Amino acid sequence: MPEVDPPLAVLAEVTHRCPLQCPYCSNPLALDRARDELDTDTWRRVLDQAATMGVLEVHFSGGEPMARGDLEELVAHAARAGLYTNLITSGVLLSDTRADALVEGGIDHVQISIQDVEDPAGDRIAGYAGAQRLKREAAARVRERDLPLTINAVVHRQNLIRLPAVIEEAVELGAGRLEVAHVQYYGWALANRDAFLPTRTQLDEATAVVQAARERLRGRLVIDYAVPDYHSMVPKACMGGWARRFLNVTPAGRALPCHAAETLPGLSFPSVRTTSLDAIWRSSDAFNRFRGTDWMMEPCRSCDRREIDWGGCRCQAFAFTRNPRVADPVCHLSPDHGALEPALRAAEAPPPLIYRRIGGSSSAPEDAERLPAATP
Ligand code: SF4
Ligand code: FES
Repeated sequence: MPEVDPPLAVLAEVTHRCPLQCPYCSNPLALDRARDELDTDTWRRVLDQAATMGVLEVHFSGGEPMARGDLEELVAHAARAGLYTNLITSGVLLSDTRADALVEGGIDHVQISIQDVEDPAGDRIAGYAGAQRLKREAAARVRERDLPLTINAVVHRQNLIRLPAVIEEAVELGAGRLEVAHVQYYGWALANRDAFLPTRTQLDEATAVVQAARERLRGRLVIDYAVPDYHSMVPKACMGGWARRFLNVTPAGRALPCHAAETLPGLSFPSVRTTSLDAIWRSSDAFNRFRGTDWMMEPCRSCDRREIDWGGCRCQAFAFTRNPRVADPVCHLSPDHGALEPALRAAEAPPPLIYRRIGGSSSAPEDAERLPAATP
């Protein structure tokens, strides 16, 4: 077996519980229940294994990772093990006391997501009254403690008109980095794709806004920009390539090469309860299935970009074609490229949003609550 470098980072999805109900949530349709979550000792063991195998970073995510009362303990343990620690949070549970405990434990970086700049619009998307205000307060707590702050602003056809104000908000909140992230269509977000996917014109205008802001704010704010790849001609290197840079651990302990991997057929994902991270990463069938380029079909197999985008996203390829080995249909060279057309046409007349009912954790989109779309 060829030598495999360790992952750069582990994404520790410590819980799927979350006080928010964003209709673009990329978590799976069937959420892990609280009673099935890994306990503190098992997470400690997983973090130790990560550090030992050469992982550099751990990203505490969810759901809302602060829904776990032992998050501060896990952060402190990871920091003691020598891992760079990043908290990915909505911010609504970040009190002064908990912020102090995170600093005490050695947190290195905090990323707070925002849904909008206008409170009614942001609270509506989050499904949580007061979310916007709590997020601003959380950002202030992070900066008061001199922690580096990234703002993650999820954008879509219903809030792109306010993108310039989103960028100003990130500056005012004291962020050093802003991620302008168009919704990616996995998990629950796929059920709401047609309500969120921007038109080509909206996307081009947003791209111009980002480019101008990058120039204007050079040296003050770094702006990362993730476009909805449905409008692209070449796919993204999803996860930096299957099992090349990232390893996800779900709340219940399944190890995944990406957050949507469980949508693929014929793969079984090892549990960190019974198998070491190192063995999972190097030897499991699931991580080796699409690693490298040997698994590729044409046109990827002989394409110059095969070690740049790694054939795009396996989960998106399967979602459109039912075959996870084909080129991502986003690619203009893919024989399935036309499969994107219906989604792009539907974006011209968006339907209402579909909200997940938290508590009915495995509810299907057809069972869920529908709210009218805001005027784009
Ligand atoms: Fe990427 Fe495959 Fe398209 Fe080449 S043919 S650009 S490797 S998806
Ligand atoms: Fe699974 Fe892209 S989300 S490979």
